[in-house]
Amino acid sequence: MAKIAPSVLGADFSRLGEEIKSADKAGVEILHLDIMDGHFVPNISFGPAIVRTIDDISGAYLDVHLMLSEPEKYFEDFVKAGADCITFHYQVHPEPKPYVKQLRDLGVGAGYSINPDIEVEKVLSYLEHFDLLLLMSVYPGFGGQKFIRSVLPKISTAREYIDKHNLSTVIAVDGGIDAGNAAEVAAAGADWLVMGTAFFSSDDRRGLVEMVNKL
Ligand code: DX5
Ligand code: ZN
Repeated sequence: MAKIAPSVLGADFSRLGEEIKSADKAGVEILHLDIMDGHFVPNISFGPAIVRTIDDISGAYLDVHLMLSEPEKYFEDFVKAGADCITFHYQVHPEPKPYVKQLRDLGVGAGYSINPDIEVEKVLSYLEHFDLLLLMSVYPGFGGQKFIRSVLPKISTAREYIDKHNLSTVIAVDGGIDAGNAAEVAAAGADWLVMGTAFFSSDDRRGLVEMVNKL
């Protein structure tokens, strides 16, 4: 069974509270929060104050995706704001262990992400330390981009490795996922499907949650 993780980046920010409540009402258990610094990616999104606002409104698990050049500087701020799991990128920390330890000491889950041009083999040996592997299916920075299909074999490779080594690392896939490609992403072995534009532009959000739950 797969789970949907709506990316709040796709929400209407003029009605943020209602959008979050609507996701909760639709049965969403995980919210994906995209944090961008205008340096690691060419866009700026939002910071800990908005994460705290979302945490106050929602009962969902907050999966915070840090697209930051120096993510560790902000770990504590996001934990205080209500993050349940914090993901940073392989591109900024190819030797991730000290940062995982910082997250463990702060009492939250740890996630590791790779961009579409990074081979999944580069991170497999680290997966035992992580709760989450976030495979990017777009180049991070913007919502509403086209799904990059070369992520599919990476999902299968990671699935095989995780199962073979009996790990509990969750595989999440992020970018360009919609009702049309969700099934093949889940079939390749993904546990969580991040969905921004497709979720928040849908007028049947509950239907989407249930559809993904059946995959
Ligand atoms: C990309 C973000 C994604 C993305 C998801 O930088 O990490 O979470 O915005 O949104 P959609 O589903 O619109 O691609
Ligand atoms: Zn993301």
